[in-house]
Amino acid sequence: MKCRKCGGTAVLELRRHNVAFCAPDFLEFFRRQVNEAVRRHRMFTRDESLLVAVSGGKDSLALWDVLLEEGYSATGLYLDLGIFDYSRESRAKCEAFAAGRGAPLRIVSVEQEVGAAIPEVRAATRRPTCSACGLSKRYLMNKAALEHGFPVVATGHNLDDEAATLFGSVLHWQTEPLARQSPALPSTHPKLVRRVKPLYRLSELETAAYAFLRGIDYIVEECPFAKGATSLLHKDILNRLEDASPGAKHNFLYGFLEKGRAAFEQASPVELNECVRCGQVTTGTLCAFCKLADQVKRSR
Ligand code: AMP
Ligand code: FES
Ligand code: ZN
Repeated sequence: MKCRKCGGTAVLELRRHNVAFCAPDFLEFFRRQVNEAVRRHRMFTRDESLLVAVSGGKDSLALWDVLLEEGYSATGLYLDLGIFDYSRESRAKCEAFAAGRGAPLRIVSVEQEVGAAIPEVRAATRRPTCSACGLSKRYLMNKAALEHGFPVVATGHNLDDEAATLFGSVLHWQTEPLARQSPALPSTHPKLVRRVKPLYRLSELETAAYAFLRGIDYIVEECPFAKGATSLLHKDILNRLEDASPGAKHNFLYGFLEKGRAAFEQASPVELNECVRCGQVTTGTLCAFCKLADQVKRSR
């Protein structure tokens, strides 16, 4: 196998693009895809300070790495979920990465903010764990960005994540999530910062290869509560489709973004208020995060 770019020995074949690359040209390809995502969706400018949500996994650390390499001012944000060894190890990976690059890292403890760590939140609510956890993460990312003056939060969601989320929403025709699914969510309220996903054009395999070639030490284990999650089943189904027909995943996602999404965008945007307790944005009076914190308190 030869590198499409230089003719040298290729280390990676990307079947969906029908190309193979040597290590330096693959890294170049990866950076180009990130830059293309940023440009196409006007995610941020060179003058803006970015807050990068890092979980300690390959995707978010790869993202932080590319953004730093590209010369952006990028601060990491790690949310400590308090999930036993998984959180301890993933936090250590983020800290080691930050120290190695001399990059700033902020750490926020879910236990301090919600009143309990995720295992206890899990026991206190009847929601699926990842739903309470996802809600807390989105809330705390936005809060941290607002408090420290970051106009935008970047997450490490990749092509596989986005295609699996889309697949799940389509299976149930969930029109609200379909309207919101985008690589770049604009700020629709002064207290809501932009959210962007600069890796949406890169597959999980590609981010893993990037992290490996860049010598990034990341946590390989999944969150222990993710086992059996339907998102993993959806990823598996899409991977089988991709095997049989390379490009299936990206055609599915890009096709939706280009041709389908507009049909789901609400004609009249939902009205946003500020939560009577914490002041963050909500469609009601008390936000979902404050309700969750109350539920946790009551269960004690
Ligand atoms: P996940 O929902 O676990 O697939 O993660 C998607 C993205 O959310 C990651 O790529 C990160 O950018 C961000 N993220 C997930 N967990 C954390 C965490 N504990 N702290 C900060 N960011 C996170
Ligand atoms: Fe949230 Fe697993 S990361 S429950
Ligand atoms: Zn609130």
